Amino acid sequence: MCGIVGYIGPKEAVSVLVDGLEKLEYRGYDSAGVAIPGEENLEILKKVGKLAVLKDQLNGEEHCANVGIGHTRWATHGRPSDTNAHPHTDCTGQFAVVHNGIIENYLSLREWLESEGHVFRSQTDTEVLPHLIEHFYNGDLLEAVLVSVSKLVGSYAMAVVSSKEPDKLVAVRQDSPLVVGLGEGEYFLASDIPALLKHTRFTYILNDGEVAVLEKGGVKVMDLDRKEIRKSIFEVKWAAEQAEKGGYDHFMLKEIHEQPKALRDTLSGRIEADNSRVNLEEVTITPEEIKGLKKIFITACGTAYHAGLVGKYIIEKLVRLPVEVDIASEFRYRQPIIEPGTLVVIISQSGETADTLAALREAKRQGARIVAVTNVVGSSVAREADDVIYTWAGPEIAVASTKAYTTQLVSMYLLALHLAGLRGTLAPEKISELLAEMKTLDEKTQEILNDSQVIRDFAREIANSDDLFYLGRGLDYSVAMEGSLKLKEISYIHAEAYAAGELKHGTLALIEEDTPVVALVTQETLFEKMVSNIQEVNARGAAVLTLAMEGLKEVEKVSRKVVYIPRTYEVLAPILTVVPLQLLAYHTAVARNCDVDKPRNLAKSVTVE
Ligand code: F6R
Repeated sequence: MCGIVGYIGPKEAVSVLVDGLEKLEYRGYDSAGVAIPGEENLEILKKVGKLAVLKDQLNGEEHCANVGIGHTRWATHGRPSDTNAHPHTDCTGQFAVVHNGIIENYLSLREWLESEGHVFRSQTDTEVLPHLIEHFYNGDLLEAVLVSVSKLVGSYAMAVVSSKEPDKLVAVRQDSPLVVGLGEGEYFLASDIPALLKHTRFTYILNDGEVAVLEKGGVKVMDLDRKEIRKSIFEVKWAAEQAEKGGYDHFMLKEIHEQPKALRDTLSGRIEADNSRVNLEEVTITPEEIKGLKKIFITACGTAYHAGLVGKYIIEKLVRLPVEVDIASEFRYRQPIIEPGTLVVIISQSGETADTLAALREAKRQGARIVAVTNVVGSSVAREADDVIYTWAGPEIAVASTKAYTTQLVSMYLLALHLAGLRGTLAPEKISELLAEMKTLDEKTQEILNDSQVIRDFAREIANSDDLFYLGRGLDYSVAMEGSLKLKEISYIHAEAYAAGELKHGTLALIEEDTPVVALVTQETLFEKMVSNIQEVNARGAAVLTLAMEGLKEVEKVSRKVVYIPRTYEVLAPILTVVPLQLLAYHTAVARNCDVDKPRNLAKSVTVE
């Protein structure tokens, strides 16, 4: 959701900035731009389209500045265009700003600035920022930024450069992520860590209401009253190559293939060696509090919400506690009833999704205990929750989430079995069996990845389809929803997931000769019901691909193609079943020549509402 970068140091700034933006393009790719101090005023280079367009334009041009800011945009206010691209400047061209977030009161600010003689060029909310800074500038850039920020309502991570004080960058964070990179004699700003890794592993992760001033001699972090803050240095542990494609055609494919390792990493150290119990030290709720729990809410967006749906099934089944799952953008506004004894689980890969963060805050405001499941250390969700279960999936760059989902599932199983053990709702032998089986899921995932031919063939067959239906019951229905989302977002084929039992209440009317249907059959207790549902679509000529648990041979009679999932307990099946669905979406998108890692209109990390 927009990526911002900044640089100050001895190097040629434009190439450092463009390099950093490349690592952030997953956050938005409608337009890109950079601002550097020029001979007199600032020099702004910006272009609608992907970063490659800007790079083409810059090709061969020498820029000697060694200070600058850059931006890759995901449009919110104002359509993608050269004019709406960041950086934005004031009328004098002396102040430039890159911004990630939304300035909610920009219309009133704009009206007021216009009445003061400022002339606006773009339709963006961001443009008010350089105008405000210019308006309040009185010889001190930091002061002008602080006064401007005091007028804002909304969310922002912003970086400012000015030709008035060309050896300085000022950055502020409020509800959108921002990290400072600490190199040797050079300093960086970025919305996310991958943009820094080539240069440094040492960072300051800014909190809301913190301001950073970057100069050649060092970085100062302070609060909005200019009171200096002693930040602790966060050292990034993962390797730079983890944020590269590593020989795969797309990040998404690489990340799908990283799942066996990601599953191992999520489990690492969290199951006792003899499989007797879960070891979730990071969840600090006492056994007494766990016994006193009355209800659990799970709230998240998109794929993480789908992980929450699986979470509901397993917690209700294994822990026997009622669970309500909510889309975060609904939860935050629907005045949920949170009573004593309520645990709220927040799931978010990025830990920065605006709605999810707002849901967390609403739950906290109402006194709930919060456990976050997130992939990003130091993210807002991680910092604001009471306890954090890190998914340890490593950086996920492709917009379509894959390994984040499967590791979120593993985290939910760990949480469920931890709660079940302490509440005594599941026999210790059963817990041990499930934990032992979880340790085998990496190999089983690898088996699926090693044999994807049927999926590739089916992907080619459906590449020209307009619609696709995913059917399942119970846990398979939750996974069907994730499969359908994956296909929609990267192949642009309309897809819908249906609880199979609901088919004949309307949707069956849409099934005709050769309509592609993906049926999920891993829940043995629902096996016969699912076979009947497949027969219903089969009888109308549907082209059915069935994903079935190994051994459920009968599905072959009612399906055109079958992919078997290695045998596992049906309650754990989602972790495996989703993998062929990810591959199906991927190969279909490739067959349709879609931009797999950067699907149109979407961005990773949705930090605006
Ligand atoms: C889909 C996808 C999105 C995210 C959603 C929440 O593939 O990635 O639906 O799951 O935007 O993002 P996080 O988990 O970062 O809160």
